[in-house]
Amino acid sequence: MFNKHRNRWHVTKGEPLTELDKKVLYFQNKGFLVPTKSLIKTAEQIEGIRQSGVINTGVLDIVAAEIREGMSTAEIDRLVYEYTVGHGAIPATLNYEGFPKSVCTSINNVVCHGIPSEKVILKDGDIINVDVSTIYKGYYSDASRMFMIGNVKPEWERLVKVTKECLEIGMRAAKPFGFVGDIGNAIQKYAEKNGYSVVRDLCGHGVGLEFHEEPEVCHFGRKKTGMLLVPGMVFTIEPMINMGRYDVYVDSRDGWTVLTVDGLPSAQWEHTFLMTDNGIEILTY
Ligand code: MF3
Ligand code: CO
Repeated sequence: MFNKHRNRWHVTKGEPLTELDKKVLYFQNKGFLVPTKSLIKTAEQIEGIRQSGVINTGVLDIVAAEIREGMSTAEIDRLVYEYTVGHGAIPATLNYEGFPKSVCTSINNVVCHGIPSEKVILKDGDIINVDVSTIYKGYYSDASRMFMIGNVKPEWERLVKVTKECLEIGMRAAKPFGFVGDIGNAIQKYAEKNGYSVVRDLCGHGVGLEFHEEPEVCHFGRKKTGMLLVPGMVFTIEPMINMGRYDVYVDSRDGWTVLTVDGLPSAQWEHTFLMTDNGIEILTY
């Protein structure tokens, strides 16, 4: 049966097929998952997302300059809020599905979605992910970095370094008319080769006109699976890599904080990317 609900590349009878139409239809007819045309950003939309990304990077640079031992994660939240609003933008997480703060701050065994608090104080040896997302003129960007506080154990430092390399390797695996699964496959191989595991429960995502769009960008999986990568698509890659097992749970007390089941640390790095005809471009540098 013809599945009306599957993503399709819509072409109107009577309108000439472009080279892009022909290319995408070729994959669609072979049964591959393709984007809808609405996921292909216009030049104007790309410019807006790019400007959003510049502010998002500015936020992370301020955090990088100010973060230190003894600081509460609520102070990081205030820095993020002030800088973002001061630049005419809105923190995307603030009130997003009830998330109460302007940034996610995830320390050690917290995988992601940690909620900033006056009670959480950065201490020597902590590793923290600061995940910033910005809405500017309606356009969304999303990126995160790890920070090491004081003297971090060499094994933990290695986790942070390898996770950053996972992001770079995932990015290099993303090619125009390749597949989302190529990204996950490359990341999983590299993480596991280094003795780590890839969180399965949370993935990267399309971004730009909304916070979370299609496709889902998982950081594990097989090549030539998932959605076709078409120039004009904007999405995040944001591997969460665990030192121990990949299992995670959500703290029922706040409904947000994601933690490792085994209590071992987790790291994450994230950028927002644009797929172009020539390859992938980072929009959150
Ligand atoms: N920046 C996170 C992401 O990559 C935001 C998750 S939603 C939140 O999707 F509400 F938890 F912030
Ligand atoms: Co994201």
